[in-house]
Amino acid sequence: MTRIAQIAGDGIGPEVMAVARRVLDAAGVTDLQWTELDWSCERYAREGSMMPADGMDLLAEHEAVLLGAVGWPGVPDHISLWGLLIPIRRAFDQYVNLRPMRTFDGVPTPVRADLAEGVDIVVVRENTEGEYSTLGGRHGSGAAETALQTAIFTRAGIERIAHVAARHAAERGGTLTVATKSNGIIHSMPFWDEVVREVAQEYPIEVHFELIDALAAHLVMRPADYDVVLGSNLFGDILSDLVGGVCGSIGIAPSANIDPTRTHPSMFEPVHGSAPDIAGQGLANPVGMVWSAAMMLKHLGKEKETNRIMAAITTTLADPATRTPDVGGLADTETVADALVDHLRSTA
Ligand code: NAI
Ligand code: MG
Repeated sequence: MTRIAQIAGDGIGPEVMAVARRVLDAAGVTDLQWTELDWSCERYAREGSMMPADGMDLLAEHEAVLLGAVGWPGVPDHISLWGLLIPIRRAFDQYVNLRPMRTFDGVPTPVRADLAEGVDIVVVRENTEGEYSTLGGRHGSGAAETALQTAIFTRAGIERIAHVAARHAAERGGTLTVATKSNGIIHSMPFWDEVVREVAQEYPIEVHFELIDALAAHLVMRPADYDVVLGSNLFGDILSDLVGGVCGSIGIAPSANIDPTRTHPSMFEPVHGSAPDIAGQGLANPVGMVWSAAMMLKHLGKEKETNRIMAAITTTLADPATRTPDVGGLADTETVADALVDHLRSTA
């Protein structure tokens, strides 16, 4: 049995997690042993912390973590994020954040159909350093009040993520786009460019550096031109939501937080948050969660089941009767779940 820790979390997290579990069952994945954890903002409100003091030790006994979403009004977002998600990513050295996204037949996109056709992008985001750091502080008061926030870029950190991105580019279309801002951020970004360029030379790929602002515009104007996009922690975070939006909805977008050394568990979660505005209404799109679960299966070596789930996703998204309103459909979460399960059973 492979041990999986499940953190359904807050808001629509538990709603979409329930669908992922049904889909895994329907795909015939029977050798997973689940530990269901109630770590969430609700727990924080009740007990004063997002997870128990020995939480990381408990997670460490698992092969993978499957997470819904955390965050809820009333608990500041930096508490839910730094009390759970970020410690997991860092303590487990999940330095790769993989965020694939593509357009699907039938799913309307906010960009013109001819531009959206065939879009298939993987954003590779550095996940443990960069702009998301605790270095800095707030000083002074009144007009003199000041906040300092220091980004951390290490050679080792840039090298290892660059290798992952370059390897993905070599396996896919052979092109790597690197987000930078070396014109405005004059220490860390030129260093980032330099180290990524060195690493990329070891691979049979073409490498393009694009300033993040121009890249954001180009990803909207001609998304089909991109394949693998590498970004620092902040840039990768923003670009992956952007690509999700271009493809129709962040409700579809999956992500994987991976420790490639497999020393620690990796974590799989949809890109979206807890969506308080639609929570409890049965309207959440479960596809981002289900796709994340499929990425987990791939990580666990279950290629066949992964492909079957992806085929079920493609089929259900193609029909407005089996997709949710955020992607131009008429279905509720339950109907999408039933359709995914039916497809998997009928193709077994
Ligand atoms: P959000 O992703 O929860 O929602 C943004 C918009 O997208 C909302 O209008 C929502 O209804 C819609 N949406 C999101 N997922 C959807 C789905 N599966 N189906 C249909 N529509 C969907 O982001 P927001 O509103 O900025 O944050 C809400 C809470 O979630 C905050 O507390 C935030 O910190 C947290 N959050 C947690 C994340 C995580 O657990 N990894 C990631 C992003 C936000
Ligand atoms: Mg984000």
